Amino acid sequence: ILVIIGGAVGFVIWSLAASKTSTVGEITFENSLKIPELLEFELDSEGRKVFDLTFNQGEVEFLKGKLTETWGLNDPYLSPTIRASNGDSVVVNVTNKVGEKTTLHWHGMLLPSEMDGGPHQMIYPGETWSPQWKVNQPASTTWFHPHLHGETEDHVYRGAAGMFIVDDENSKSLELPKEYGVNDIPLIIQDKNFNNDGSLSTGSKMFSNVGILGDEILVNGTHSPYFEATTNLVRFRVLNASTARVYNFSLDDNRSFHMIATDSGLLESPVELEELMLSPGERAEIVVEVVPGETVILQSKDPNLGAPFWGERYNGGDDEFDILEIRANQKLTQLPDLPEKLATIKLPNKDEVVETRYFELNGYDRINGQEMDMNRVDHVITAGSTEIWEVSNPREEMYHNFHVHGIHFEVLEVNGEKAPAHMRGLKDTVYLAPNSKVKLIARFETYSDANYPYMYHCHILLHEDMGMMGQFLVVEPGANPSRELKGHDRH
Ligand code: C2O
Ligand code: CU
Ligand code: CU
Repeated sequence: ILVIIGGAVGFVIWSLAASKTSTVGEITFENSLKIPELLEFELDSEGRKVFDLTFNQGEVEFLKGKLTETWGLNDPYLSPTIRASNGDSVVVNVTNKVGEKTTLHWHGMLLPSEMDGGPHQMIYPGETWSPQWKVNQPASTTWFHPHLHGETEDHVYRGAAGMFIVDDENSKSLELPKEYGVNDIPLIIQDKNFNNDGSLSTGSKMFSNVGILGDEILVNGTHSPYFEATTNLVRFRVLNASTARVYNFSLDDNRSFHMIATDSGLLESPVELEELMLSPGERAEIVVEVVPGETVILQSKDPNLGAPFWGERYNGGDDEFDILEIRANQKLTQLPDLPEKLATIKLPNKDEVVETRYFELNGYDRINGQEMDMNRVDHVITAGSTEIWEVSNPREEMYHNFHVHGIHFEVLEVNGEKAPAHMRGLKDTVYLAPNSKVKLIARFETYSDANYPYMYHCHILLHEDMGMMGQFLVVEPGANPSRELKGHDRH
């Protein structure tokens, strides 16, 4: 009942404040899109690629004449892009110079749980944490961000996040646009609210049921961005790195584009789309075709989140945004047509399912009735087994999504029907509209240390922080680990 009253009050205030939101058509595309640099590495004596990332505070002029205090990794805001190939051994030295404890999680990376950077792998101020692992997954667009329990929303909102691109033999040999920064372009999309003095505002939290909903869009930390295309095909690696906002991307003349990859890798073949919805944490690689001299705008139109009770405004559902202006040069280099076959995907085998688990997302802070407890292991899974996870969002007034660490899953069904073509690849995050359910299948291959569980959670970061998260171990057959963890936060 408190939630309902709180929601109603919030809705009223939100309605009053609503006039300042929608920004469609108002931006002028005056800033050249920043492209995060590729992070350099050194090879150590064992042939490992060693990367260094430092959390630091920064100041950025997003809006003309105003300085915004931010967080970033190496850069004042966001981070250089890490790039490595399947089979590489990598080490990342992550140093914390922000004066507050935090963590750095490798979202979408299959790696041992003690390297995962979830809430248990705390990095205290002044310390360096050096996870190392062997990249063992197909080419994909993954990313990294803080995951401190209770503060993930704030830490990500301040700007500490970046992209980690995995290549493999197949992706290197395919005829796809693949020149980083020229026709293979990261698009890290985030919404922000700015105070008059340029500082970041978190005030919209009080007016929504999903946390911060910004009225300005940054792409790679660029406000009002344009991108100059020099080739007829441009591949965008789109990452929704927002804390809560769901986007429904399209091009302003409604031309179609091709989606070539999901969260966790290339699709079997390109899928033609006119619209693409991405919830927080999800990624998609898309290829847009342009002709010489034209201009086309990537936009987000009403994602129609279908939350009738509170109204769309309350969860950002009717907001529309211009995201990026694509300006095609007068002379374009013609790239080969997209290949018809992109990859062979190793999907989990339905005949091998040994267990079905059910996850109900409750309110904004619980799963199956329970809030996250850092010391409670919610599920123990035998390594090598295949399971079905059924996730439901039974509520009418709120959207969620669902992300799982340590695995890539296939979405078998959405609301009892076969998942649409563009979702038929491997993913790690899936959207859950109000009143919906999804059926996922995964093989749990990566072992976890009995002390360090993997997480599953809603990637609406406020919900995650409030407790819509749980923990699981992946153990050797026959192992019987304790379901109680102790002493993880030493401060
Ligand atoms: Cu992107 Cu558990 O997080
Ligand atoms: Cu993750
Ligand atoms: Cu949620």
